[in-house]
Amino acid sequence: MTDLESLRKALLNEIDVVKNLEDLERLRISALGKKGKITELMKGLTKLEPEERRNQGASLNALKEEVIQIIAERSRFLSDLTLNARLLEERLDMTLPVRPEMEGRVHPISQTMNELLQIFSSMGFSVAEGPDIEDDFHNFAALNIPPEHPARQMHDTFYFPPDSSGERRLLRTHTSPVQIRTMQVAEPPIRIIAPGRTYRRDSDITHTPMFHQIEGLLIDKSTHMGHLKGCLFDFCRTFFELDDVPLRFRPSFFPFTEPSAEVDIGCTRKKDELRVGIGSGWLEILGCGMVHPKVLEHCGIDSNIYQGFAFGLGVERVAMLKYGISDLRTFFESDLRWLRHYGFLSLDVPTLSGKLS
Ligand code: DAH
Repeated sequence: MTDLESLRKALLNEIDVVKNLEDLERLRISALGKKGKITELMKGLTKLEPEERRNQGASLNALKEEVIQIIAERSRFLSDLTLNARLLEERLDMTLPVRPEMEGRVHPISQTMNELLQIFSSMGFSVAEGPDIEDDFHNFAALNIPPEHPARQMHDTFYFPPDSSGERRLLRTHTSPVQIRTMQVAEPPIRIIAPGRTYRRDSDITHTPMFHQIEGLLIDKSTHMGHLKGCLFDFCRTFFELDDVPLRFRPSFFPFTEPSAEVDIGCTRKKDELRVGIGSGWLEILGCGMVHPKVLEHCGIDSNIYQGFAFGLGVERVAMLKYGISDLRTFFESDLRWLRHYGFLSLDVPTLSGKLS
């Protein structure tokens, strides 16, 4: 056996039995480091005759490559071994329940939105959505609110600077533009609800610059006010969980409905306490009416054939009533103590599923 062959055997044997990465590194240095065995032999090549140098050089290079490769394989094997040992040692019990104080809460607005969507989808409404940034046509003009209309003042609007064509886009002041966007593309019969954020330049105890609405729209050939009334009664009964819910339809005005009404719910108000369903007080909860023929025509729907009803409801308003939250602004303060008190455990989300069928 040549010297080289016995060196090879010795090195491979040593690498094969080395037990950890540190020892392997030591071994690598002893063979391939600056003063390693293979390196020294390579240095010695200069002293040899050209012919012998060529042969010895080729064998040495082959040995060097082989040793590098075997060390890399052993290193991979040892790393896997270490990782597996750690994984076994640090086993986690994924079935351990979360500590109660660490559990997140569902915000009352999300909870209320879920309930509203659940109730209306069980009545056959599907969900439609529109953009928060709107144009004048969808937010106002198509809803029969022309530029000089006084109703524009009721909507203190956030406008963007005019674009190159002079058009000023805006943050939608209500979810009603989704009615327009839906009717422009869908063929009746239409039955949608549109949940979303709305914006007005308003801020006091009962107003925040951003709030949530749910819009409802139903268009068919023989829809009438009785259907609207029935639908809203059913909704309120289910939402407020009251079999006999006191509701009052009060004549009102909206440019996009004719006739129009506001709906009030019976309640008692005593200082900080507000209870729905009993007492002689009334609190407005939504606006509604029969869709104005002009609105249908703006969307290309023949008002001689089709008619329908629409309604718009403030989500915070009904959430406050149902869950006894007295200050609107607290919804948006992100106070964790408030959220722990008024929030819902995620398992509570389908609270209504038992009651709806
Ligand atoms: N868009 C109205 C508002 O924000 C609410 C409303 C009233 C919506 C009557 C409707 C409706 O669809 O028919 O004040």
